[in-house]
Amino acid sequence: MRITTDRRDVDLSTVDLFDPMLYSDGDPHPIWTVMRETAPLHRQTLKDGRSFASVTRYADACKVLGDSKAFTSERGSLLEQLGHGDAAAGQMLVSTDAPRHTALRRPLQKAMTPRALAASADRVRAAARRVLETTDGDLAKSAFEFPMTFTGALMGLPEADWTDLVQWTSMAAAPDDPAFRIGSRGATLAIAHHELFSYFATQAKERPLGDDSLLDILSTMDADGAPLIEAEIVYNCYSLLLGANATTPHAFTGTVLALLDHPDQLEAARRDPSLVNSLVEEGLRWTSPANSFLRHAVDDIELSGGLVKAGEPVAVWVGSANRDPEAFEDPFRFDIRRTPNRHITFGFGPHYCLGAHLARMALRALFTEFLETVEHIELDGPVGHTRSNFVAGISTMPVRIKS
Ligand code: HEM
Repeated sequence: MRITTDRRDVDLSTVDLFDPMLYSDGDPHPIWTVMRETAPLHRQTLKDGRSFASVTRYADACKVLGDSKAFTSERGSLLEQLGHGDAAAGQMLVSTDAPRHTALRRPLQKAMTPRALAASADRVRAAARRVLETTDGDLAKSAFEFPMTFTGALMGLPEADWTDLVQWTSMAAAPDDPAFRIGSRGATLAIAHHELFSYFATQAKERPLGDDSLLDILSTMDADGAPLIEAEIVYNCYSLLLGANATTPHAFTGTVLALLDHPDQLEAARRDPSLVNSLVEEGLRWTSPANSFLRHAVDDIELSGGLVKAGEPVAVWVGSANRDPEAFEDPFRFDIRRTPNRHITFGFGPHYCLGAHLARMALRALFTEFLETVEHIELDGPVGHTRSNFVAGISTMPVRIKS
């Protein structure tokens, strides 16, 4: 999505936060700025009658995401599920509340600690090198392949399938985007879900076990005294791969775009490579690739000075929370030395991103490689911003690179 710093006049009664076009062709930031200041609990009704509340302030975002007793994930965790519910409720991590959530998450979390992930470091670095070597003019395209290379290996998925998996996860995450859409939005989503679910069902049945992969962990784990059923294995494979593929590339390309817009920051990072970790954190805050999440109030609850009724859907705008001046000094300044930088790009509370360590490790490797090898980079055409109210990203980014 575009990122502007100027506040323009915004008429909140005409704003449509649901519309994916707002994020590809428009700019939500001036809208969020006005909401944070004047309507921190905002309500919108769609033409078909569905309605939802929105929170845009950092403190409110943490309150909603951090309290799964008051705000359940089991009626859908994405805005596109508004009014439809979630078929994976109680089975897929992201749409399951405690105590089942804790039982499902614990074994996977052990495999995603920095210590456990150290074994993947060489693979991640090689994948980072490949992104920059294979860029044929579109940086977004080569970035899409990046997370698959190490997440595929970590999950134990055959390399021959990775290209298809990148395609299907892109379609599932942003079905409105012209770069991924096949026919209608509904058809795109149906094809992607069908392909991914049947693929993971086959993998779960046919793969030999015992390789310590994430698929192996899911297939052999004991959650509350029983193994997972097939649907739980399939949904959580889907969630892991979508979590990695739909977000990490955009954190990279969006940060590169920010560096091109702020050449002084690029120069500073080149001069002092020890800034790579804080560059990655500022890039994560700046891009906020997972833009929104949904929750439903369990009971009536006060939020941001208003009342949210039991059962009411509440959208949390992560991209806005990460620009809240109450939490970040001069939030529209891209500053690779920013400290503190307590962004909530990986969420907050019980559903905090399971892949956060992996994503950080991957982005650090990618920017280390970028700063070491890229002598010059410039845009070579218009950037295509992703058409989605969930993924804030870049679908095409023509560049000229000199290494
Ligand atoms: C820059 C990259 C990434 C971003 C911005 C990101 C963002 C997020 C966010 C905001 C959540 C919380 C969802 C919620 O509260 O409903 C989340 C959860 C999750 N993420 Fe990530 N993610 C990234 C990378 C990854 C990677 C690399 C993986 C897997 C290898 C992954 C797997 C997951 C899973 C499985 C969950 C669900 C956790 C739970 O419900 O307990 N993510 N992610």
